Amino acid sequence: MSGMIYLDYCATTPVDPKVREAMQYSLEAGYGNPSSMHSAGREAARLIDKSRCQVADGIGCEPEEIIFTSGATEADNLALLGVLRSKLPEKTHLITSAIEHHAVLHTAQQLEREGYAVTYLPVNSMGLVDPGTVREAIRPETALISIMMVNNEMGAIEPIEQIGRIAREAGVLMHTDAVQAVGLLDVQVNKLNVDMLSLSAHKIYGPKGIGALYVRKNTRLSPLIYGGPQERSLRPGTENVPGIVGLGTALELVTEHKPEEYQRLKRVRDQLIVGLNNCIPGILINGPEVEAAPHIVSASFPHGDAEAMLLRLNFAGLAVSMGSACNSKSIEPSHVLSSMGLGREHIESTLRISTGYPTTEAEIERFLMLIAEIYQASRIDYELS
Ligand SMILES: Cc1ncc(COP(=O)(O)O)c(C=O)c1O
Repeated sequence: MSGMIYLDYCATTPVDPKVREAMQYSLEAGYGNPSSMHSAGREAARLIDKSRCQVADGIGCEPEEIIFTSGATEADNLALLGVLRSKLPEKTHLITSAIEHHAVLHTAQQLEREGYAVTYLPVNSMGLVDPGTVREAIRPETALISIMMVNNEMGAIEPIEQIGRIAREAGVLMHTDAVQAVGLLDVQVNKLNVDMLSLSAHKIYGPKGIGALYVRKNTRLSPLIYGGPQERSLRPGTENVPGIVGLGTALELVTEHKPEEYQRLKRVRDQLIVGLNNCIPGILINGPEVEAAPHIVSASFPHGDAEAMLLRLNFAGLAVSMGSACNSKSIEPSHVLSSMGLGREHIESTLRISTGYPTTEAEIERFLMLIAEIYQASRIDYELS
């Protein structure tokens, strides 16, 4: 992939060399089973403990409140199914939003099949949930509210702090999927007023297949699978030691660089938006102007064919995405952009450009030059057809 300009950091990120180094050590020196009492096992257990502290420091909680999972999909499943299935019989209602990742939406649909009630809150044309609608949706039987912190398709930052406060006042548990926020925004759980938070290593320069769920002390939760005593029996099975080490190291590194990287990527986003507005007349930037994550730009090109543009960009050595990566295999138009009121033609002309720590201004310049050419070429094809 050398020479490729990668602008798809929301889909996944490359592994930081320091993360790779820490994982390599764990593979060599931490091969023991963390449950074993001999020194090989104890070294593996020590590495897990260290990583648990790194993750806890990154989000401002106690190490015992972290449960390692196979990724954010599992963390989201554990939060929703775990709470609803362990609640008192009268607590049968979940509140979520229409723009959640499928890891939440499809889990909510499973809960509906099991007989639970789910409210899917709408968003406005900017993709924002109105905290007032959350307050109105709460019923005596509401067990949990789950609203994502940053949307992975268009970057809206949802008002989690406010929604968390509403949940707390009502005595309802609050979960947030913070996958796209962890590397760049403040995700201190007490400030956010959340009881549970999902995160994933591969979005923050760590390995794939590992994530975590923060669960506030004394929160009742049922496991999804049954087995040994690992992760307080909430996620049994011999631990993925190299993955856990990778997650801890990655979270420590992004936490250290967050303030500068937030500002730098904000400037890169401005450069991208100004450039797109200059070279593509009528281009639409989806999502809020202010409450926007610095690393995501969703842009709709008038009468553009996103798939054709993506393929031409790829041919020229540039990686971007159509809608979200998880949706690129689906023929359904994005549920996120539809919920914001965008029509099918609009959605099918949308590209998502997402930047990361390695992104440079020169890469954005190159992208702008190429996209202008590719868009012009596709417009000529459109006018001739
Ligand atoms: C907001 C959000 N939630 C959940 C996930 C799923 O994460 P994982 O790949 O770790 O299962 C993703 C991945 O795209 C995401 O962007």
